Amino acid sequence: MTSHTATAIAHPNIAFIKYWGDQDPKIHIPANGSISMVMDCLSTKTTVTFDPDYDSDHLIINNKSASQKSLARVRHFLAVVRNMANHQLYARVVSENNFPMGAGIASSASAFAALSLAASKAIGLNLSEPELSRLARHGSGSACRSIPSGFVEWTAGEDDITSYAYSIAAADHWDLVDLVVIVNKEHKKVGSVEGHQIAATSPFQNSRVSGSQVRLETCRQALLAKDFGKFADIVEFDSNLMHAVMMTSHPPLFFWEPASLELIKQIPHWRKKGYPVCYTMDAGPNVHVITISQFAGEIKEKITRIPNIINVLYAKPGPGVRLGDTLTFY
Ligand code: DP6
Repeated sequence: MTSHTATAIAHPNIAFIKYWGDQDPKIHIPANGSISMVMDCLSTKTTVTFDPDYDSDHLIINNKSASQKSLARVRHFLAVVRNMANHQLYARVVSENNFPMGAGIASSASAFAALSLAASKAIGLNLSEPELSRLARHGSGSACRSIPSGFVEWTAGEDDITSYAYSIAAADHWDLVDLVVIVNKEHKKVGSVEGHQIAATSPFQNSRVSGSQVRLETCRQALLAKDFGKFADIVEFDSNLMHAVMMTSHPPLFFWEPASLELIKQIPHWRKKGYPVCYTMDAGPNVHVITISQFAGEIKEKITRIPNIINVLYAKPGPGVRLGDTLTFY
């Protein structure tokens, strides 16, 4: 076999109903199902080359050799791909992101979604969308939601076959906008991997998980009916439940910065004044402010009046993973 290369592009996603904690941490079978939206403007482009001349795996992220920790995670993932294809070749993985890594924007989701398609193609596999979603989940749980397009649900399932994500509505179903409010660009100190591991140490995790079916149902219905009021209530509630678990884990995890809290206190007031707007936060200090595109300009203006905000990114519902090599920088 000579060298084989493929390039893929994928986007991160923002969860409206969160994934936090695993039934099986080895292959990221989540404690509960989740619902998300692909974020169109933020991208990861990844090229994978398998070559018989390589004597180990290499990983380059944003033109630099990656850390040992990232390399170990990618090697573990490549082992899954090699196993599926029954090939033992080493790979060179070159990845670029057009957004700040490790700041609460799920770079691992777009990274492992792009890597799933690029690596599986390069090694000669032609995987279906559910197969790619299952594969991406081995790298990072939320990556399985960056394979399909638009609005996506990840059924928790109970094993490798039953746990994967699929689109519940196309990207053009609802003109939602995610205004990603960057509060801090530093790489977060505690990553999601460690966070998922300690979720069960919170006395609130069981109750969060046992109520998740009802929240999934409510969120899915609100999304499909484009009922913003119902959507806003469930999205904020679910985010707050996850952060309550984080704050009461051992050790506790506090991701909110003063500016994050200032913002999430303001948003329900804006909603009372008639603006369709709500917030959600992941494992980082940045706030995802969700609104409808026609209000995005006004909402952005209100956001930028709050002190200590570094930047506001604009993401619309986006496409799923695809082959290609054109990456736009914003
Ligand atoms: C808070 O998928 O990043 O963003 O599987 O360890 O890579 P790993 O975790 P990850 O966890 C995402 C957690 C979250 C909520 C969510 O996106 O559902």
